[in-house]
Amino acid sequence: MQNRGYSADWLYQLKQKNNIVSVIGRYVHLEKKGSRYWACCPFHNEKTPSFTVSEDDGFYYCFGCKESGDVISFVMKYESCDFADAVKILAKNAGMEIPEFTGEKEIIEKKKAKERTLKLLDNAYKHYQQNLYLPVAKTAQDYIKLRNFTRKELEDFKMGYSINWTEIIEYLKSQGFTYKEMVDAGVAQCKNDKYYDVMAERLVFPIFNSFNECIGFSARVLGKSDFAKYKNTAETMVFQKGRVVFAINLVKALKQQGGLDKIIIVEGQIDVIAMHRAGFKSTVACMGTALTKENAHELKKLSNKIVLCFDGDEAGVKATLRSIDILRDEGFDVTIVSLPDGHDPDEILKEYGKQYLESLINNALPITDYLINYELKKYDLNKPDEKGKFAMSALKHIAKLDSDSEEEPYLDRVRSLTKIPNDVLRRDLDKIKGVSTTVKSDKKITDNVLISRENGNIKAIKYILSSLIYKKDFVDKNIDYKKLLPRYSQIIDKAYENLPISSYFDYFDVDESPLLKDCLNFNFADFKETGERYFDECVFSLAKLSLEQKKSELNEQYKNCESDEDRLVIAQQIYDVDKKIREKNLEDFYVR
Ligand code: UTP
Ligand code: MN
Repeated sequence: MQNRGYSADWLYQLKQKNNIVSVIGRYVHLEKKGSRYWACCPFHNEKTPSFTVSEDDGFYYCFGCKESGDVISFVMKYESCDFADAVKILAKNAGMEIPEFTGEKEIIEKKKAKERTLKLLDNAYKHYQQNLYLPVAKTAQDYIKLRNFTRKELEDFKMGYSINWTEIIEYLKSQGFTYKEMVDAGVAQCKNDKYYDVMAERLVFPIFNSFNECIGFSARVLGKSDFAKYKNTAETMVFQKGRVVFAINLVKALKQQGGLDKIIIVEGQIDVIAMHRAGFKSTVACMGTALTKENAHELKKLSNKIVLCFDGDEAGVKATLRSIDILRDEGFDVTIVSLPDGHDPDEILKEYGKQYLESLINNALPITDYLINYELKKYDLNKPDEKGKFAMSALKHIAKLDSDSEEEPYLDRVRSLTKIPNDVLRRDLDKIKGVSTTVKSDKKITDNVLISRENGNIKAIKYILSSLIYKKDFVDKNIDYKKLLPRYSQIIDKAYENLPISSYFDYFDVDESPLLKDCLNFNFADFKETGERYFDECVFSLAKLSLEQKKSELNEQYKNCESDEDRLVIAQQIYDVDKKIREKNLEDFYVR
């Protein structure tokens, strides 16, 4: 149980004074229909509203992307900020004083450390930025001329310069920061008891989160060097590599001004700057690293459409292939640009101009087309065996499409490339698709049975917990649900109290518990099997599971019995449990 450092009372008042409908109404256009308010979901792209707000229960839920939460978590998600920042925004909104943090010592310290780190990074990037315009920054200024950055670009991207190995360390020291804080923020490194600037003598690109806070740096060497061309901040409490997207703050601002229709992803920050210069303002970079699930999730809040525009070299193709599945899983509409001759977007723009790149972007290929072209390059279709191999690899990509009508044009293409008859291709395609659904070996059979049994249980658990949470009148009062579902006793305790749904978000980290989230959003109206009978079935199936567990434990004991006497006792117990299962006897789970 946690209230993240604020008293439950105070959070209750905060929510009372921040009516969820009026807060969310400030961000999206809400319309009242029935007992709920509806809008197009701000967390995924859609044309018909599936995002709902329930004023009485104080929470929102999207039937499309399943985002849900209370007024605080809405602000957290919409503003991409943490709990404390969302509380700050809402308190200001309601004219409330924020009380002294009363959470666990650990939480308070973590929160303070995070605030210090952000403050330090804020100081650091502004200082680097000032340095860039000093006479000592001549090397950097020359480099800037070489790359044709304009003054406005330097300012928009808040670029800076690290003069030498120690200057910023002294500066931060003079501002009251300790060496430890500098190391924790990823700004300083320690060698032989001395502290040095990690980004020394480099052109510095600060990296911002979508909340416009500087979380770290990427810095380029100037001139020849044996060191890596770019150096990035190491993992810190605010800089998590898998989560960093360069220029996300700018693209988020673009979205808030209503000017975003798709996101273009490139590899490097210099490419981002060149793209913005050419008018492609919705460009971000994943900074040489592969795109992660977290990146994709963050981007999904901004747009549904992605154009991948990685370097036209082997590394770029690899990065593209790795990103495709992640983006597809997140439900993006993805198209892919293949840049010619090992070029990156910056070079393309310099050599061929923006019209050319624009036409490449407008003609970017959907995933399946891209992948078929990719396979095509690997095989020589004049050789019969390679023809078949090509067809099979192309079919594997086609098999990932959702419908027959989407598959058809691609099958046509493979047929005309290979001259393999349509029905043969169809059969192979069905075979490929079948692999994942038909059962091949005994091991798979047992796995599948286990999975379906597990799924059945989850369904039953969810139905019971939801019914308890929503105090359905068909709940059997004779059952002790904590005995039946000991793993969920904390939730059950709360369900026995008379709490509004929104307060579950105060007691539990709902986002970290998909099961609880589903229960809070359980739609009894949508649920076919409903009512007392189904409820009893769920109770019984879980009781049975628990009894069977007990029986198999007893069987183990029986095997290991030392004496006949013991064996007899255990045998009797096994018999009793078995009888309860057969007779659907639930007495073990009765309230006493
Ligand atoms: P590139 O090597 O393609 O950079 O790496 P670039 O954009 O062409 O840079 P310039 O034009 O030579 O200055 C793409 C991205 O990969 C990361 C950086 O984020 C870079 O922007 N990278 C690259 C590193 O992190 N370390 C490196 O040593 C190189
Ligand atoms: Mn490059």
